[in-house]
Amino acid sequence: MSLGVGIIGCGAIGTVLAQAIDNRQAGDVCLVMIYDKTAEKAKALSNKLKNKPKIAENPEELIECRDIGLVIEAASQEAVASFAVKTLKAGKDLLIMSAGALVDSKLENELRCVARENNRKVYVPSGAVAGLDGIRSSAIGGLKSVILTTRKPLEGLKENKYFMEKYGNKRIEKPTVIYEGPAYEACRLFPANVNVAATVGLAGIGAEKTIVKIIADPRVKRNIHDVEVKGKFGELKVHVENVPFTDNPKTSYLAALSAIATLKKITDSLIIGT
Ligand SMILES: NC(=O)c1ccc[n+]([C@@H]2O[C@H](COP(=O)([O-])OP(=O)(O)OC[C@H]3O[C@@H](n4cnc5c(N)ncnc54)[C@H](O)[C@@H]3O)[C@@H](O)[C@H]2O)c1
Repeated sequence: MSLGVGIIGCGAIGTVLAQAIDNRQAGDVCLVMIYDKTAEKAKALSNKLKNKPKIAENPEELIECRDIGLVIEAASQEAVASFAVKTLKAGKDLLIMSAGALVDSKLENELRCVARENNRKVYVPSGAVAGLDGIRSSAIGGLKSVILTTRKPLEGLKENKYFMEKYGNKRIEKPTVIYEGPAYEACRLFPANVNVAATVGLAGIGAEKTIVKIIADPRVKRNIHDVEVKGKFGELKVHVENVPFTDNPKTSYLAALSAIATLKKITDSLIIGT
């Protein structure tokens, strides 16, 4: 039987994901219901689909729907804080795209605990980064350092409060380091830009020890991530050049694809990779 899913958040990622499910590219999954705090977004998404899901009037209607076994969050860190625990308590698995919410170790621990008590799973896709398999494996042997360097076009930083307050009235004409420090603080200051920092932190040595460098680069058109890991296993380097979505330049296309790949992994009988 198909896995019934519900999507909270009908923006760039939610739309690509819903369309993949509609076109049977996301494994044996059926989209039962969608919800967005902006009702028009949910309506617009439904209009793009051949198999129309129900549009929930409130998040609870989706979370409590009996035909849904997995709730997908593709909304915001705030949505994770509001709905994640409720979802697990309602007996559903949960897929989280706004991974930055999990640098709050209190929330992370609560999710682990509630998931265990309810025999549920929380999935955090790789998002816009690659190499998490290697980081997870190498962390078991012991890690010395994990450094993530993120290079972003100015376009993707325009809605960021911290960036605009510090650099809004300056002309950035060459690559400029706008943040260097722990992943924990990077996720707080750039909530919609560096979910990858949280994901890399979770896979490796945690968000406090993972070092993040963010560079605003007027020369690039892509969201570029370089991860450098050193440990007992040796060294690992990953370089990803992400094409951003046109209607949401903060988000990389690979992030949406990673959610589709996770859905396929959940429903497949042969699992490839660590
Ligand atoms: N893990 C990763 O690597 C990665 C990469 C890109 C984006 N993201 C994150 O995934 C999330 C979705 O990204 P996107 O590009 O689709 O964003 P988007 O802005 O295009 O769409 C988000 C949608 O969610 C809705 N929304 C926001 N808060 C909500 C709430 N509390 N309840 C219901 N609906 C809500 C908005 O109205 C919007 O329609 C964001 O938090 C983003 O930061 C993660």
